[in-house]
Amino acid sequence: MYQILHKEKLGPDIWLYRIKAPDVARYRKPGQFVIVRISENGERIPITIADVDNEEGSVTLIVQAVGKTTLEMTGLNPGDAVPTVTGPLGKPTHIENVGRVLCVGGGIGIAPLYPVARGMREAGNHVTSIIGARSADLLILEDRMRDASHEMIITTDDGTKGCRGFVTDSIRNLIDIGDSFDLCVAMGPPIMMKCVCDMTREYGIPTIVSLNPIMVDGTGMCGCCRVTVGSAVKFACVDGPEFDGHQVDFDELITRLSTYRNQERESLERFGSESGCRLDAVLEGGRA
Ligand SMILES: Cc1cc2nc3c(=O)[nH]c(=O)nc-3n(C[C@H](O)[C@H](O)[C@H](O)COP(=O)(O)OP(=O)(O)OC[C@H]3O[C@@H](n4cnc5c(N)ncnc54)[C@H](O)[C@@H]3O)c2cc1C
Ligand code: FES
Repeated sequence: MYQILHKEKLGPDIWLYRIKAPDVARYRKPGQFVIVRISENGERIPITIADVDNEEGSVTLIVQAVGKTTLEMTGLNPGDAVPTVTGPLGKPTHIENVGRVLCVGGGIGIAPLYPVARGMREAGNHVTSIIGARSADLLILEDRMRDASHEMIITTDDGTKGCRGFVTDSIRNLIDIGDSFDLCVAMGPPIMMKCVCDMTREYGIPTIVSLNPIMVDGTGMCGCCRVTVGSAVKFACVDGPEFDGHQVDFDELITRLSTYRNQERESLERFGSESGCRLDAVLEGGRA
């Protein structure tokens, strides 16, 4: 069993957990994830390792409640334990000194972006970050991202913090004033990564994205997480989750992510009526 050491609310329906998992913490590199089960018969959900503390032997996971399992997880507290934290899984981010790196994160995607931005800075890159969310209360890891970056821009769709608009508006502004980048790393909702890639393609900036298809085993055996990259079929859990964003078929990814929408909704509603949990925020936020 893996004990929960710490729990902290970062925003409405967004929670940070530190969970004791010394072996995972020891071997994890930026870009990797774990598969978590919160009960013996529970489903397996992939969650990025946002940070580790090797002295404490813990991994930091940041979880947004978007459905049944993630909502159920928000009911767990320090002292509780979960049966499965399998990992580290996936290929680590390729980190090297390339010069000027633009890190772009949206919503919960800021959680996987943070260790990558920090790694890029430690490798000697000049790191400019743009982090965005629908509104100020959904913005996470602002202080940590600021520490990991040389410059940072905040955007919110509704203008409640930073620049009003999308992260892509800020990319365009930076390029218009003469900034240039050798690499872009974009992590967030698929539609955001798609828009970032359309823009960086226009400017010839190589772009890495982290894909979040539905995963089951996380070890390359079930085929659930297949994505099309260039002309090849890849399994995001073992070949990724990071890929050349200019080669990714985002439309296919977005369609496949909604395959089980009806079943997910039914499962969430059943959980809500059995547990008495309030579902409105999850139904609105998770499906937006
Ligand atoms: C590599 C990777 C890293 C991720 N890291 C994080 C993270 O750090 N923090 C975070 O909050 N979320 C992360 N996710 C997404 C997270 O796994 C899903 O939100 C979670 O599985 C939803 O489960 P649910 O039962 O609460 O919701 P459901 O109602 O079952 O699903 C809600 C939506 O979540 C997605 N989803 C459902 N099941 C899975 C699954 N098994 N695998 C992937 N996506 C699924 C689908 O888009 C679905 O429509 C990551 C996903 C991947 C693939
Ligand atoms: S999750 Fe099963 S092959 Fe990737």
